[in-house]
Amino acid sequence: MEVYNLAYEAHGKGTPLILLHGFPLNRKMWEPQIDTLLQHCRLILPDLRGFGDSSWSGKALSIDEIADDVIQLMNSLSLDSAVIGGFSMGGYIALSIVDRYPTRVSGLILMDTHPKADNKQNLENRKRMAKVVEKKGTEAITKEMVKKLLTAHTLKDHPEIVQKVFDIMEQSTPTAIIQALQAMANRPDRSHVLPQFKKPALVLVGEKDEMSPPDLVKEMQSQLPNSNLALIENAGHLANMERPDEVNQAIISFIDVL
Ligand code: MLT
Repeated sequence: MEVYNLAYEAHGKGTPLILLHGFPLNRKMWEPQIDTLLQHCRLILPDLRGFGDSSWSGKALSIDEIADDVIQLMNSLSLDSAVIGGFSMGGYIALSIVDRYPTRVSGLILMDTHPKADNKQNLENRKRMAKVVEKKGTEAITKEMVKKLLTAHTLKDHPEIVQKVFDIMEQSTPTAIIQALQAMANRPDRSHVLPQFKKPALVLVGEKDEMSPPDLVKEMQSQLPNSNLALIENAGHLANMERPDEVNQAIISFIDVL
């Protein structure tokens, strides 16, 4: 395994919980979780390679290699195991860890994500986005992305959340975006790992999530033998930023009984 040191921040003490951000975001997406969750666990928030403060040479990466970075971070923190939580792309990485390093996962939180590989339409869309970003830079996709991440209600009535999401996305370099799109396009289906994971799992989804539709997420949860579902009302894909109190409460209820 290549040794790569991810930038991260850590808060609190107790059960380690590593939260993996989505695309094209960074660890700042978890700001609405920090003050509450640090009272219940040791929260570890990495920037995945290429994003936020984790620099990167630009070499092509796979979801499995990004998952290896997280294992490397656990090694450097002397963590034999941790609760691994992943939002969307972070969930694809969490499932790679469950598949390839099951003993390192003491509990699993899957948020607005699913185990399927890309279908033809997703693959075409990723190619299109990569071309646009290559030609015109990050700003060329942020307007399109923000509409997919947030509900119409948030877009209209919560300019502070919209601005925060833009600020986070604008920190992502075109190279990181293009490589992450390729890594996601090349990822395998991980449905087979779900029935094998017998430890506790929490699945969350915004009821209006169009990127990981609730039906698909519910199907995933039904295949995890020891899991609960939290359906977050009035939230889209970025449920943790739109409805932080509900998401924090679901995570605390899960963590506190582990
Ligand atoms: C994410 O929110 O991390 C991504 O949009 C997931 C994806 O594009 O499949």
